[in-house]
Amino acid sequence: MCGIVGYIGGKDALPILIEGLKHLEYRGYDSAGVAILGETLSVVKTQGRIADLEKKLKGKTFKGSVGIGHTRWATHGAPNDKNAHPHYSESKNIVVVHNGIIENYLELKKMLIKEGHTFRSETDTEVIAYLIESFYEGDLLKAVSKAVNMLEGSFALGVMSKDEKNRFVAVRKDSPLVVGIGKGENFIASDIPAVLPYTKDVIILENGDIAEVKRDGVNLFDLKLNPIKRNVQKITWSVDDAKKGGFKHFMLKEIFEEPHVIREAMRGRVNGDEIEIPELESDILKGINRVYFVACGTAYHAGVVGKYLAEKFLKIPAEAEVASEFRYRDPLVDKNTLLFVISQSGETADTLAALRLGKKKGAKTIGIVNVVGSSVSRETDRVVYINAGPEIAVASTKAYVAQVEVIALTILYLAKLLNKLSPEEEKRFANEFKLLPEKAEEILKQSDRIAEFAYTTKNIEETFYIGRNLDYALSLEGALKLKEISYVHAEGYPAGELKHGPLALVTPKSLIIAIDTYAPLREKTLSNIKEVKARGGKVLAIASEGYEKIKEVADKVFFVPQTLNELSPVISVIPLQLIAYYIAESRGLDIDKPRNLAKSVTVE
Ligand code: G6P
Repeated sequence: MCGIVGYIGGKDALPILIEGLKHLEYRGYDSAGVAILGETLSVVKTQGRIADLEKKLKGKTFKGSVGIGHTRWATHGAPNDKNAHPHYSESKNIVVVHNGIIENYLELKKMLIKEGHTFRSETDTEVIAYLIESFYEGDLLKAVSKAVNMLEGSFALGVMSKDEKNRFVAVRKDSPLVVGIGKGENFIASDIPAVLPYTKDVIILENGDIAEVKRDGVNLFDLKLNPIKRNVQKITWSVDDAKKGGFKHFMLKEIFEEPHVIREAMRGRVNGDEIEIPELESDILKGINRVYFVACGTAYHAGVVGKYLAEKFLKIPAEAEVASEFRYRDPLVDKNTLLFVISQSGETADTLAALRLGKKKGAKTIGIVNVVGSSVSRETDRVVYINAGPEIAVASTKAYVAQVEVIALTILYLAKLLNKLSPEEEKRFANEFKLLPEKAEEILKQSDRIAEFAYTTKNIEETFYIGRNLDYALSLEGALKLKEISYVHAEGYPAGELKHGPLALVTPKSLIIAIDTYAPLREKTLSNIKEVKARGGKVLAIASEGYEKIKEVADKVFFVPQTLNELSPVISVIPLQLIAYYIAESRGLDIDKPRNLAKSVTVE
């Protein structure tokens, strides 16, 4: 996730671009840059935030009323000056800002190197500038359309040519992009807040739309350059509301981003019927006889899913460990151990210490990380990024979804390397991964029903989340979400363990949230629900569609679409996140910044 902006009009472009980027900084702040076209073309960029870019620009004047800008959330290449956008072709004729991931960039890069180009950055974006340049014959629009037809992946692009001072071009596929319509001036941006200070009229581009943006108008085309029309919408929200995309809190916005996040996390990793993690070499499991997942908080709960999957598919003993415990034990780790280190921020102190301990003992390490260039990503032997984009709410939601998905992809890929996953099974999983974004959308459509339930339940004092196998892993995360933001006591428990203690606490005032999506054990969990009901407890069940029987036992059921048992956590966590969110919201709490908690815990 990055933010891009573009301007053409009668005013100086620079202040407008900077103001726009500030509204997009929530989308990433690893580096920032602008390109301004006037008499000459100037490109200024720097590692760091927009404020760092402003420092670099101080005292200099850049005259020009056309420009594009970028704020980066690194995906390919470390967050540094060289990888900062805009990127440009050698001749500096073509300048590009990009939000998204180009899956086939390595192939394209090889081809362009063969043609004699020299690359300056490690980004996927640089290939776009070179490709457009190679098609450029005096018409930027045509060159862009030819180049984007060769790109696989997701992109929102702003492209300028030094030789064309009266227009720039924008394209969108699977990354958001809006066009702001002004008077004698027009804009593009990754999100509405960046254009709202200037205009309330916007066109939301759809996949495959190309926009030719001029001072006096905007022309839209499909990828083959056939003219198309889109409606202009009037935005009625304030800038502040718009940053949250019209959602009341970042947490809710991030939950609603999950279908997109699921798609991005599998990009380049699910290809046709195959699963592949290009970041991992094929002999990575050589000699490995033990697997650990270490992490804190929500990331630890993703590790619990990893433990179940690793045991099942790799047939190697696997453990999930809270990092703050792991680091102070004398864990049985040696050179035959594979250590997965899971962290959204990549900076959690205990997680880092556990990683360092593991390395000292000789373990091979794989980071499952969101923030590119973070400490965990730098210190692990290999890193598989989850590509979830910046997460702002303290309570982690979309990062969990992406962590679980990437862990599942990684374990399945490793199983394939060990010849423990047949091509038929691989195909079955690959095809099911592709359906997950739509299934997540289906669940989000139930959010009103979930909110309604949460409002009627807002006064509960105690909850137990129960489940078996992967549903147990989910119950831990469901309970944590509720605790964190609604301050209601919640515990995740293995469903079979309920009768060994917590059942004593169950009264008609208790709410039990039973997760029952793991088909091989669903009858067992159903029996546990009956035990709760017999003690007068109230039960909400989260079950897979088609398991109608559960309606006769539970007080309320939210169904999630059927998927393969092993992939259920990716989507079945969504109702749990929504329940926690709406209970906290009905209690009027500060959801994005819950009391006493921090997003990134860099002290032990
Ligand atoms: C804090 C956050 C949690 C997060 C945990 C681990 O407790 O509030 O949301 O799960 O740290 O953070 P990490 O960045 O390592 O995933």
